[in-house]
Order: sequence, then C-alpha cells, then structure tokens
Amino acid sequence: MAIEIEQQRASAVGLSKVAVSETHGEDSPYFAGWKAYDEDPYDEHSNPSGVVQMGLAENQVSFDLLEDYLEKNSEASIWGSNGVSGFKENALFQDYHGLQSFRKAMASFMKKIRGGRAKFDPERVVLTAGATAANELLTFILADPGDALLVPTPYYPGFDRDLRWRTGVKIVPIHCDSSNDFQITPKALEAAYNAAEAKNIKVRGVLITNPSNPLGATIQRAVLEEILDFVTRKNIHLVSDEIYSGSVFSSSEFISIAEVLAAQNYKNAERVHIVYSLSKDLGLPGFRVGTIYSYNDKVVTTARRMSSFTLISSQTQHLLAAMLSDKKFTENYIKTNRERLRKRYEMIIEGLRSAGIECLKGNAGLFCWMNLSPLLEKATREGELALWNSILHEVKLNISPGSSCHCSEPGWFRVCFANMSEKTLEVALKRIHNFMEQQRELKEMKII
Ligand SMILES: Cc1ncc(COP(=O)(O)O)c(C=O)c1O
Repeated sequence: MAIEIEQQRASAVGLSKVAVSETHGEDSPYFAGWKAYDEDPYDEHSNPSGVVQMGLAENQVSFDLLEDYLEKNSEASIWGSNGVSGFKENALFQDYHGLQSFRKAMASFMKKIRGGRAKFDPERVVLTAGATAANELLTFILADPGDALLVPTPYYPGFDRDLRWRTGVKIVPIHCDSSNDFQITPKALEAAYNAAEAKNIKVRGVLITNPSNPLGATIQRAVLEEILDFVTRKNIHLVSDEIYSGSVFSSSEFISIAEVLAAQNYKNAERVHIVYSLSKDLGLPGFRVGTIYSYNDKVVTTARRMSSFTLISSQTQHLLAAMLSDKKFTENYIKTNRERLRKRYEMIIEGLRSAGIECLKGNAGLFCWMNLSPLLEKATREGELALWNSILHEVKLNISPGSSCHCSEPGWFRVCFANMSEKTLEVALKRIHNFMEQQRELKEMKII
C-alpha cells in the first residue's frame, strides 16, 4: 500500500535552482502524447480501440536477430566464456575507461556501419549511459551556464532537457524550412549566430543530428563541409549526434562527419565530437549504451572522468563486446536491419500517400516527417496543436507535432513506424485513411 505523506505547498522546504527550473522540457506535447498512450494503449485483442504509439523512435524490427544470437551464444549473455568464474570479473570494480574489449568492438562497429569509410580509435571511445548522457556530458565540457549551442530546427525534443536543464546552457535555433527540404544553410547558421550575439549570448558550438531526428534524412557532404567551415571561422565546436547512422536504408547515402574530417586530413578536427549509441541501430535503449568520440584529447580525458556518473554495467559491456565482435552476426544484422527499415518506410509512405498525405523524402531513421499543413484551420502553432489533439483523442494515434521539435513551420508531424508490428502499422494507416476521408467530406460539406 502507498504511504501517504502530506506535501505542504506554501512553506515547502526549498530545493535547488536546477530542481525547480522549467528547462526540463517535459511539459511538451511530445511527452503528453506518451502519457495518453500509457493510459489507453492499443492492443489488437484486449484494447483494439486504444491509442497506437507512433511517437516513440524505437526499433523493434530486428529483435529476432538479437534473440537468435543470444540463443546460439548464451555464454555471452551470462558470465562470459569463463562460466561462473566470469561472475567475479563482472561484479568487481570497473574503472571509467570501461572494458577495452568493448571499446574496440564499438569502434569497429562504428566503422562497419559507415561502410568502412571512416575509422575510429578505441582510445578515443568514451562510454556513457546512452546518447542522452553523452550529449549532456559534452555540453558540460564545451559550454558554461548562460552560453549557447546552435541547433538546427526541427530537432529531437529531448535536447531541451539534455542540453539545457542541468547544464544551464541555452539552445539557439538555426531555423530551417521546407523551401529547401529543411537543409541547413550558411545563411541560417549566420542568422542564428547573430541572434545569439544580439542578446549577448556566447555561442560555444553547433550541434547537428545526422541522420536527422525528426526529418529521417541524412545531411549532404557539401552541407557538412559548410558547417565545418562555419565552426572553424567562428572558432567554436561541432557536435554531430550520429545515433541513427546504422539506420540509413543504404550505407552509401550516409556521410559521417568522421569521413569529412578524414578527407581533410583531420585539419580542425579538435573541435569536432561525435555522439553515438546502440539505442536505435541495435534497438537496445534499455541497455543504456552510448559513446562520445572526440578528436580533442582534453575533451576525451575530461569526458572519461565525467563518465563516472553514467557508466555502463560490466555485464552489458561483456555481452555487447562479444556480440559486436562477431563479424558474421554484425554484417548480417546491419544489412537485414537496413532492408527491414526501408521496407517499413516504403509501407508507411505508400499508405500515407494513398490517404492523400505527403512526407519529406527520407532515407534513414525510424520515422517519417509528415506534412499535414493543408489540414490546418489556422496556420499557427495553436492550429497545429488543435489538429494533433484530435488525431490523438479521436483517431487515437500518438504522433509528435512539429512544434514540439521547434519546427518554425506549422503542420508538420513526426510519425514513427518501427516500434510496432506490421499489423499494427496497417491498423494505424487505416485510421489515418478514414480520418482523411472524413476531412474531405467535411470540406465538401462546407463548400456546399
Ligand atoms: C537524436 C537523438 N539523440 C539522443 C537520443 C537519446 O538516445 P539514448 O537512448 O541513447 O539516450 C535520441 C533518442 O530518441 C535521439 O533521437
């Protein structure tokens, strides 16, 4: 039974500024939609009229491959090849360098998903509990409270929490729009920098997400070169969150900032830092496995010290060191996972198109970026949220409104497709189809 403890409001005992700050970002519709799903989750048999969760970028399409590996290699998941004696190795002290075998496996996996076109030194791999911790930790290292990072919009809503809340750092948006498929331009970079300067805010870096969440598209090489040029001119940092790098439908369509640096003989590399995690590409967000890969020695040393706060358990590292060092498994996994994601993407794009909805052309990720602006009664944030609200409560689909990603154009929504079965996706597409039919009928009635 819950223990009732009276919580006094007026004379409440004080908490820190961080604790009472509003910068945690959790009061966004992005999280409100998750709550609506939790209260009424769709289930084919027990709750067929419940909410379908399309607001969660989770990859469940290749789970069978992971399970198959574990079945064939049970020693990897228990105490290692040494049996019970391996228990002691897992249970006792782990320093913040993490296991060398795992850092090596991680470096080689990162190379593999980039088609071998970029290489990574295990000595620069700093382990963190997911990309969430990696992004916060880097922000702590690169900026002081009150300073800013420039982040292209639309961006992953979690950044509002990860980059700002505990660090006291600000996010200044680099506004991108549909006129050029939301690509980052030198003009938009300058405008964001100038907007920060006009407010006397010191800019410490640019943080890009490549492939982008929520766009589901990769950044072109020429754009990466322009961004690198910009940060060099301004003498600031560049963080490239490449958490979806293995979820590109075709490896040749992804250029990592690591490749651009290699092509330039690592000139200006000390201002560049890559964030990666196994949450998306391997579908393991519960394992909390991430990394900072920095080309700056001081950042590597500091990040490693700070990673003491967010280490990965030794048992998880042992398991993943074995799994990722298995060449046959990783090659098959990467290839099959890409094919399955592409198939899902095509299925949703086709389903939406036949309902009369267009999406931004994507080539990566676990979601598509859907344009519902023609349906808005008012082309404003309020109009967008009104539409989101009826899709959530009437159509019973949780999708993420573009405004929760700070998109400057109303009417765009992120729709996830890899966190459910094909059958559930079909149910969701049918609901959207019916909703669009209804909208058309309503429109016709208004005209008459
Ligand atoms: C761009 C981006 N960065 C970071 C994260 C956080 O990932 P993790 O589960 O590894 O903390 C996410 C999760 O959705 C994301 O989309």
